[in-house]
Parts: sequence; structure tokens; C-alpha cells
Amino acid sequence: MDLSDINMASDQSFIKKLTHERLKYYLTPSDHNYEAFSNIVEIGLTSKPKFLLPQYLYDEKGSKLFELITEQPEYYVTNVEISILESSVNEIADMYNEGILVELGSGNSRKTKVILNALFTRRDSLRYFPIDISHKILEESSEALLKEYQNLSITGVVAEYNKGITLIKKDTPSRKLVVLLGSSLGNFNPAEAKKFVKMISDNIQDGDMFLIGLDMHKDSNILNAAYNDSRGITAQFNLNILERINLELNGNFNSEKFEHHAFYNESKRRVEMHLVSKVEQEVNIRGIKEIIKFKKDESIHTENSYKFTSEQIENMIKESFQIVKIWTDKKKWYSVILMTPIK
Ligand code: AVJ
Repeated sequence: MDLSDINMASDQSFIKKLTHERLKYYLTPSDHNYEAFSNIVEIGLTSKPKFLLPQYLYDEKGSKLFELITEQPEYYVTNVEISILESSVNEIADMYNEGILVELGSGNSRKTKVILNALFTRRDSLRYFPIDISHKILEESSEALLKEYQNLSITGVVAEYNKGITLIKKDTPSRKLVVLLGSSLGNFNPAEAKKFVKMISDNIQDGDMFLIGLDMHKDSNILNAAYNDSRGITAQFNLNILERINLELNGNFNSEKFEHHAFYNESKRRVEMHLVSKVEQEVNIRGIKEIIKFKKDESIHTENSYKFTSEQIENMIKESFQIVKIWTDKKKWYSVILMTPIK
């Protein structure tokens, strides 16, 4: 048990669960999750215009659908990121050859393995702290990694990023490499993203490192195709949040009466995802004691996925981090950035 465990164990808002000598979890109590979800559904669906927040797309089914999205030919994001990582990890591992690995939004572990493989060629053991909002996905990927890497110890944290990172406190004695891949930061608006990056910087120390992957601004045809895959997986992913409301909050959404709508909003440089009501209708959500009225063509805004320019990246991080190196692909569709905090 090291200092980071003591910090975690003393945080009353987490439940600790030990499942193997090299694997333990910190879980947010399920009543917290329920309350957070019902609050946001109530606020979002009684607002004008209606909205929901993207982190709630990832229940068990949503997380599985997202994994499927990453395999769709139109969704270049994951493959381009992995190919950039493959050509940069050795350099990263040379600069970071001791300390722990913290991953925000670990999801499945395809990209994590690329990093682990490189780190393990330079050392014998490693502690890995995946932080993910989806309990099931975190468990599945942690168990798989545990089997594959005999010298890996895992402390999984089921929480939103903010909560998870502050749990792994500054005074963890070891150095930290914090990774945030998949352009997850793109879900925040520019002001929130800047604050989030600052918060990471405040929670790590000199010599620690932060690695992020960001999707770049590009031709809108490519972006529109990426969020409207021909098999309709992204549509299912988006519509699944209505099923989640039905299941968890006792709602009666008929998802066939809603349509997936995703498009690149060029002036705001973001892909917007919406669920558009095909008809005028009323939906009863007993768990929040609300009947929600929809006009025909009225939409629920479910996600923003911001795309970046080099200048925006620079602006977002310059007050809290110094860039060590930026890697990109030939087409400059995606960037992976390694940085160190300014103290
Ligand atoms: C996981 C937030 C990066 O915005 O591209 C994929 C989620 N939404 N298709 C993204 C997503 C629709 C994804 N992020």
C-alpha cells in the first residue's frame, strides 16, 4: 500500500473492492450515479433547447456500441490515433521510464496496450490507474490486462475524470504519466477544456507528464461521414441514451420516434449530435416525475465533439503546460501531444 492508496482509502465517497492481489477498484456508490443521471435528465429535458450530457452515453450498452464505432471504416479517429501512438511510444517511454500510468477514459485497452508494451521494454513492473465512468468496461479491460501482463498492478477508479484525478492526489510519491486519448477532451467546450487542462496540471507535479490525443479540424465531408457511419452504429449509440432513460428512470421513450442527426458545425468547429423527434409527442419519465413534450423536429442535443487547430491547442494549454513534443499523421488529421506542467 503506498500513499496514493491511503489517499483513496480515506476518501469516503468511494467504495474499495479488492479482487486480486494485483487488481483493486474504487467505485462511486451507485446512488450517487443515479442522482447525477436523474438530475441531468431533469435539467436537460426541461431546458430550451433540450440537451443531455455525453458522458451518459456510456452505460454498458453504450460503451459496447462505442467500441463498435471505433471499428467502423468511416470513424478514422481511433485507427489514426493508434498509428501515431505506435510511431511515438518508444520516444515517450524513453522520456518516462519510472512512475505510474494514469489513464482517463480507458475504455477498451487497444491503445493502452501500445503504451504498456513500450513501457515494459524499459522496466520490470508498473502500476496502472485506469479511470472510467463505465464499471463493466473498466472491469473487462482490467481483467484482460491483468492476465496479459504479469507484472502489472491495476487500481481501477470508476468515476468521472475530475473526481478520479483528484483522487490520485498530488502527493502520490511516484511520478505520473497521465493519458487522455481518443479526443475525449473534445467533448468539452473551449473554456471547459482549458479549465480541465489546468486542473490536470494542478494535480500533477514537476517532471510528471500529460499525453493527450486530439482530433483536428478537417474537411466537413470526412467529419460528417465519421459521425454517420453507413451501418448506423453511431445512430444506435446516440439513440441508446433514450433506452437508458427508460431503464434507469422508468421512462417511456419510443426510440423509433427519434432520429440520429450529426453534422459538423463549421463555425463552432464541432460535430454536434442530436436526437430529433420525428413527430409531436409526449414522453413520461416517472423517475423524475415529468412529462416531456416534443414538437415535430424538436431536438435533444446529446454531444459536442470539438475539432482543433494547432493554434487552439496552443491556446488551451499554454498557461498550464509546456509542450515536449507533438506527433501527427501525414494528413494532419490527428495530433498526439506530450507535455509537462508549468509550475
Ligand atoms: C469518445 C468523445 C471522442 O466525439 O468522436 C463517437 C464519441 N460520438 N461518435 C467522439 C463519439 C459519436 C467520441 N469521443
